[in-house]
Amino acid sequence: MCGIFAYTGKKNAAEVLLDGLTSLEYRGYDSAGIFIPEAGTVKAVGAVGNLKAKVPQNFKGQSGIAHLRWATHGEPTEINAHPHSDCAGEIWVAHNGIIENYKEIKDKLIKKKHTFVSDTDTEVLAHLIEENLKKENDFEKAVIASLREVRGTYGLAIAYSKEPEKIITGRMGAPVVLGLGENENFIASDPSPILRHTKNVIYLRDGEIAVITPSSHNIYTLDHNRVIGTPETIEWDISQAQKGGYEHFMLKEIMEAPEVLKNTIRGRLIVKDGLAKLGGLESVADKLRDVKRIIIVACGTAYYAGLVGEYMLEEYAGIPVEVEVGSEFRYRKPVIDGDTILLAISQSGETLDTLEAIREGKRKGALALGVVNAIGSTIARETDAGIYNHAGPEIGVASTKAFISQLTALSLITLFLGRQRQMSATMGKRIAEELLLLPEKIEAILGQKEYLQSLAEKYADSRDFLYIGRKYNYPIALEGALKLKEISYIHAEGCGAGEMKHGPLAMIDENFPTMAIALRDSVYEKMLSNMQEIKARKGKIIALATEGSEEVRGVADDVIYVPKTLEMLSPILSAIPLQLFAYYFARQKGLNVDRPRNLAKSVTVE
Ligand code: F6R
Repeated sequence: MCGIFAYTGKKNAAEVLLDGLTSLEYRGYDSAGIFIPEAGTVKAVGAVGNLKAKVPQNFKGQSGIAHLRWATHGEPTEINAHPHSDCAGEIWVAHNGIIENYKEIKDKLIKKKHTFVSDTDTEVLAHLIEENLKKENDFEKAVIASLREVRGTYGLAIAYSKEPEKIITGRMGAPVVLGLGENENFIASDPSPILRHTKNVIYLRDGEIAVITPSSHNIYTLDHNRVIGTPETIEWDISQAQKGGYEHFMLKEIMEAPEVLKNTIRGRLIVKDGLAKLGGLESVADKLRDVKRIIIVACGTAYYAGLVGEYMLEEYAGIPVEVEVGSEFRYRKPVIDGDTILLAISQSGETLDTLEAIREGKRKGALALGVVNAIGSTIARETDAGIYNHAGPEIGVASTKAFISQLTALSLITLFLGRQRQMSATMGKRIAEELLLLPEKIEAILGQKEYLQSLAEKYADSRDFLYIGRKYNYPIALEGALKLKEISYIHAEGCGAGEMKHGPLAMIDENFPTMAIALRDSVYEKMLSNMQEIKARKGKIIALATEGSEEVRGVADDVIYVPKTLEMLSPILSAIPLQLFAYYFARQKGLNVDRPRNLAKSVTVE
C-alpha cells in the first residue's frame, strides 16, 4: 500500500529506480514518481509503465527516490503524485503512510509563507523539513526535528538536492528495509526491489531513522542516538519475485501451491509419532500446554484461513477459538487474560489492523503468536513466537498461495497443540501422512485448469454469484466469493449453505448461479439438500465434489472434481479450483488480475 524505493551508488539511478518500482507495483498504481537530484522530477498518473514512458533518455544521476501511490489523501492526480517538495524544490519526500496532524502543521507553515501545491499530507513534511533546516542548518537534524513533530504513520525516502549522495528514511508504522550493497545502498518498503542487487538487508524498527550514502548506512533513534542494526540475509530468490513465463503473478502463484505446501511442512513433521515439530513455538511450548482460549486475528483472506483454523483447533485440540477481523478487534473491549493466545495470521506481516490487534492483546497480557509469510516483517517481530509460512514472495494482489500455506500452517499448529492434549498418536499420524499426500492431489487439481477456464468462460456473463459450503468449507465459500469479486468486480456472496433459507435464497433465479462446495464429508447429505433448494428455484449450480461422487451430477449443471482427503484438510484442496475459476473469470473479462482496481497489497493504513 504505497511503495517507496531509493538508491544511492554508482549506477544509473533512473534505471535502478524504475526497475525497482516495477517489482513493487503491487503496492499501488494510482500514480508513480521519481526524483533524481541531478536530473529533476517526473510524475505520472496510473501505473509505473506510464512513468517509464515519460522519463527522458537523459534523465541521469547516481542517486534518487521513487514512489508508487495508493491514494489516501487527495485524488490520484499528477499534482498529488509523490515525491513532494518544499518551496525551493530542494527537499523531496516519498511517503507511505498518513501524517495525521498534517492540517495543523500546514496551517502553521502557511502562516510562515510556505506555499502548497498538492492536497496531500506528505507535502507538509517536505515544508516542515525546509522550515527546520533554517534553524538546524543540517539535513539530518532537520529531518529528525520534523519527524518529532509529526503524528501518524510513515515509511519515508527523503532526498536533498544539495547533498545528492545522501538519502534519509524514517519508519513509524509503515515498513522500511535497507538494502546493503557494494558501494551502493537502498531503501524500500519491502525487499522485492532490492533482491536483484543484494540479499543483505536491515529491517528498520518504528521510531528509527537511517541515513544512507553509497558507502555508509547509519541508523538513529528520534533522539539522534546511534543504533546498531542487525543485517539479515534474505532467503528469497529473485526468480520467485518474477512471473517465470506466466501471464500473471496470480496464475504463477496458484500453480506454485504444491511447492508452497511442501515448503510449509518441510522439516516440521515427525510422521511415525504423529507430531508436528515447530521450532518457532518451542520457546513457548510449556505455556501453550496451559492455554485455555485462542483468539485468531486477521484480515480478508487471512481471516478466512483463521475461520478454518477455528474448526481445526476446536475439533482436534479441544481449545475454544474465536476469530475476529483486526479492524473490529482493536476498537472494542475484548476480554483477554493471561491464559489467552492471540494468533495473528498475515501474509505481509504488515497489515496495520492485524498488527494493532496484536499490540492491544499484548497490552492485556495475551501471548501473541504469528503465522506470517514475510520474514522480518513487523508482525513477525512483535509476536512472542510463531511460524513462518515459507511460501516465498506473493506479488499478485489477490492472495492465493499464501492462503494455501496459511491453512497448512494452521493444520500444523493444530497437530502441535492437539498432541499436547487429547489427540492420539494414531490421529496425529493420519494427519501427518495426509499432509504429505496433498502436493500430489493439488497437482491433480491444477491439471484441470483448461476445464476450469472453460467453465469460467461459460459463466462469464453472470453478474452475480453465490458461493455456499458447510463446516470446514463454509470459510472456503466466503474466500471463493472474495476472490471472484476482488478481481472480477462482480457481485459475489459467500454463505453457509444452511443459512441460505434465512435470506440469500431469495436472490436465486436462472440468472444467479451458485458455486456449491459439496465434498463427500460429514455434511455431504446436507449440502445435497441445499443444492436441491437452489435447483427448485431454477438456479444454475457448479458443484465442487469429491472424485467418484456421481450423484452430484444429478443436481449440478457442472461439476469440478477434487481428490479425497481428511475433512479438516479438505479446504486446502477446495480453495484451489475456486482461485483458478476466479482467475479465468477475470481474464475472460479482460481485467488485469494482478492489479485489481482500488486495491493494493500490504494494507498499512486503517
Ligand atoms: C485478498 C487479500 C486480502 C489480504 C488481507 C490481509 O485476496 O489478499 O484480503 O488477505 O489484506 O493481508 P495480510 O495477509 O498481508 O495481512
